[in-house]
Amino acid sequence: MKKIDWDKLGFDINPADYMFISHHRDGKWDEGKIVDYGTIRVYPSAVVLNYGQGLFEGMKGYRTKDDRIAMFRPYENAKRLNKGCERLCMPGLDEDFFVNSINSLLKKNRNFIPPYGKGDLYIRPILFGSGQMLGVNPADEYTFILFMSPVGPYFKGGFSGINLEIRHDYHRAPQFGTGSIKAVGNYAASLYPKRVVKGNSYDEVIYLDAKTSTYIEEVGSANFFMLKNGVISTPRLGGSILPGVTRNSILIVAEKKFGLIPMERDIRYDEVFSADEVFCTGTAAVLTPILSVCRNGEERKIGDGKPGKKTKELYDELKGIQLGERPDDFNWFFEVK
Ligand code: COI
Repeated sequence: MKKIDWDKLGFDINPADYMFISHHRDGKWDEGKIVDYGTIRVYPSAVVLNYGQGLFEGMKGYRTKDDRIAMFRPYENAKRLNKGCERLCMPGLDEDFFVNSINSLLKKNRNFIPPYGKGDLYIRPILFGSGQMLGVNPADEYTFILFMSPVGPYFKGGFSGINLEIRHDYHRAPQFGTGSIKAVGNYAASLYPKRVVKGNSYDEVIYLDAKTSTYIEEVGSANFFMLKNGVISTPRLGGSILPGVTRNSILIVAEKKFGLIPMERDIRYDEVFSADEVFCTGTAAVLTPILSVCRNGEERKIGDGKPGKKTKELYDELKGIQLGERPDDFNWFFEVK
């Protein structure tokens, strides 16, 4: 095993030794196998390479203080992957097969799960049309792969927070497009806007709705939240927003454990400037405070420009549940055995 500096983990690829691969041929998935991590062979005419018929998921393997291995709500990812498969005309996976495959691979790659407190083992399931096609049609063969990489915070500095830019000139996804699934093309489309805002020294884009450019949709790689006067709001899922597992978990925890009023609603972009606290959520981003937001060249701090108190409490609660350190009232902690 290659030596990893656990104190310097960012969100970079450091592949764990083993990956899992399964193929769908003649109408069924094979049982799959664990193999050494490495290259795969695909035809140039594979549908994923030509027409983007591909999906991914993002999950994590956690090491608890007492050295157990855990996942967080893995069946939610299985369900979301299957919804995406339907939308992209790909064959879905049996949910138990999906979770059991990850379970086995996590055990095999357990040395790559960072020591407690140093990071997590990021799990990347991908499923794509590997069959050949020239016309725009679904593939006749599919490949499902799991690979893993130890990671630290998605955004440099982690909980210290990020600064974002609202853009009216780039959209992430239209209402009846593929914004609500993890289609690979959604993320290809976000590369250029991200490059633009990085050039302005911001960490990510706050995307607005494609129809009116007025309401907040997402932060490219994470869901958006704001807190004001005891109400926690996040953009409602209207077909273009990713239904994040962390998003859903925070809505539940905020209400049931902190007595906040959860609202999934339309949020005008200018509401962000008078919010008490703003943050974004995702498997990779966990819960990252948003410290300032810029629009049309004008940058404004959120609150006092520091990570918010409630944001920290929600973060601690989420991490506590993921690591088996806080009561698991909703049955979300999934121990790998
Ligand atoms: C995740 O949070 O795991 C995601 O899939 C987002 C990704 C763009 C890093």
